[in-house]
Amino acid sequence: MTDSKDRITLRRPDDWHVHLRDGAMLEAVVPFTARQFGRAIVMPNLSPPVTSAASAAAYRERIMAAVPSGAGFTPLMTCYLTDDADADDIADGHANGIFTAAKLYPANATTNSAHGVTDVAHIMPVLERMQQIGMPLLVHGEVTDGDIDIFDREAVFIDRVLEKLVRDLPGLKIVFEHITTEQAVQFVDGAGASIAATITPHHLHINRNALFAGGIRPHAYCLPVAKREKHRLALRRAATSGSSKYFLGTDSAPHEIHAKESACGCAGIFNAPFALESYAAVFDEEGALDRLEGFASVHGPEFYGLPLNDARVTLERRDIAVDDSIESTGVTLVPFHAGAVLPWRITQS
Ligand code: NCD
Ligand code: ZN
Ligand code: ZN
Repeated sequence: MTDSKDRITLRRPDDWHVHLRDGAMLEAVVPFTARQFGRAIVMPNLSPPVTSAASAAAYRERIMAAVPSGAGFTPLMTCYLTDDADADDIADGHANGIFTAAKLYPANATTNSAHGVTDVAHIMPVLERMQQIGMPLLVHGEVTDGDIDIFDREAVFIDRVLEKLVRDLPGLKIVFEHITTEQAVQFVDGAGASIAATITPHHLHINRNALFAGGIRPHAYCLPVAKREKHRLALRRAATSGSSKYFLGTDSAPHEIHAKESACGCAGIFNAPFALESYAAVFDEEGALDRLEGFASVHGPEFYGLPLNDARVTLERRDIAVDDSIESTGVTLVPFHAGAVLPWRITQS
């Protein structure tokens, strides 16, 4: 990384957690991710979900067709685990370079997770095989019990599910996705080298007050929901600590404006347009711009056992105004930071 006060150059970063969707939405959002990132771990929670190597290969083709030419972007595919996931199909898909990882959604925890896993015990043979072959497990870490307060669901997931999983399968690589609590940071810090976590830009910027700032704010709603300020600060410390256990995963999760601004609005924040700029603002505020490259471009590939990107990207300290909404391919989306100004921008090369 080369550095000055107003300009930094990093290895091209990767996004280790993104929702690209399908159809017109896919076409609308892929260019934003491809502009900034060399690779992205693509979430499989389509409807129906991506549960087989064949459907992942077909989805990868549809993504590639939507990537602007010359973008230099590679999607990395994931398998949506269900109670009857097949260890052989998943291992074959991994060996054939189709599946990079597999995703555990507790059933009904989040968007399109109805087919998710009802009890981790049901997929133990699959997880054992993944441990054997070194295939990472990506986890949406929230319990789904209605009697657990929504702000506690991540911490309770650690106690009830994750601790046991790590004990039972100590060699399984696990990415605790989009962490939102100081309990998650403590857990990851205290766990062995096989446990890592992604952190989103929005959980570094907002706490739960953002959901109710002057009225109800559907565009600040995502899962896991933003927590108290002390949790946001713990996430900032973790992301900027330099620890190789933490890396960039935007969890950019677009929903059309009418699905967000509704009596029952969908969970998900669309942060793809200025994700790297959003992280850069945080690292700058924390006096840690020298650690942005590790978080954005190095820790992720090292954990996944993939090569670092050779390309570079330069950010400069120059304001960029984020539009109130974005229209593309007939889809209207409200981006994270809508109407605000971010202090760093990617230079046009
Ligand atoms: C994601 C989505 O919309 O697919 N939503 C979200 O709030 N993060 C699902 C997820 O990552 O849990
Ligand atoms: Zn999730
Ligand atoms: Zn997600």
